Amino acid sequence: MSLENLLFEIVEGVATVTVNRPKAMNALTLETLAELGDVVGKIVNNPEIRVAILTGSGTKAFVAGADIAMMREMTPMQAREMSLRAHRIFAEIEQSAKPFIAAVNGYALGGGCELAMACDIRIATENAKFGQPEINLGILPGFGGTQRLPRLVGKGRALELILTGEMIDASEAFRIGLVNRVVAPGELLAETGQLARKIAVKGQPAVQLCKQAIVNGLEMDIARGCAYEVELFANSFSTADQQEGMAAFLEKRLAVFRDC
Ligand code: HXC
Repeated sequence: MSLENLLFEIVEGVATVTVNRPKAMNALTLETLAELGDVVGKIVNNPEIRVAILTGSGTKAFVAGADIAMMREMTPMQAREMSLRAHRIFAEIEQSAKPFIAAVNGYALGGGCELAMACDIRIATENAKFGQPEINLGILPGFGGTQRLPRLVGKGRALELILTGEMIDASEAFRIGLVNRVVAPGELLAETGQLARKIAVKGQPAVQLCKQAIVNGLEMDIARGCAYEVELFANSFSTADQQEGMAAFLEKRLAVFRDC
């Protein structure tokens, strides 16, 4: 599929996907979603890619939501289909063994905030703004916001954001745990790239088991989650990387992981 609305590059095991519709604040159309689905599939299936970064083009918007002009005439069936389509892609991001980092470079509203929340880690610029303004359009979040926002920031804060539709700035998003850190706009891609590379040099089986344990374990009660961890922990001892990591420590040298 040729990419009209996204930029996609791979450098040293780190894939960067840039939503590129600057005239519409990088709002997501059905075509953009189709391209995103295609690119996420490529990231998941390409063994050279170890970590992915999602960002928006320009300095104003990460993604200002689903495209309102496109949604205006939608029937309930079409809205359902679009919601399902985004849910499938966002679930693939979340369930992928590879870490996804959202580099939030401006407005992350509606479907944009939801896309950032489907990622594993969020880094925002000082000028970034977050919100679920769907209530002001007479609809509700449909790309996972009602589910992922309360899981990230708690029920009360999620209800306040979703029921008022008001935006919060990056420092408030940091305070409530919606973003991991806030950086100056000029530093976003350097900081995010540095974090991605720190993760990319680890042994991939361990990275993948860590993500799996946290993402899936969070949906379990504590006893089942801990039992799940036991099994994944045991699995990590069947890897060559476990042998190498422990040998390297004891021999006082750097580990050379082989991702197996
Ligand atoms: C379509 C959009 C858009 C969007 C911005 N634009 N957001 N077009 N869909 N979500 C367009 C504007 O129409 C305008 O086009 C251009 O981008 C620049 O936007 P302005 O409003 O002029 O810029 P500014 O005054 O700086 O305000 C920026 C903004 C505002 C705060 C981001 O644009 C805004 O509030 N956008 C809508 C945000 C929103 O409600 N998102 C949630 C969508 S619902 P022109 O042609 O006039 O230059 C959603 C549901 C997901 O995401 C789930 C569905 C199942």
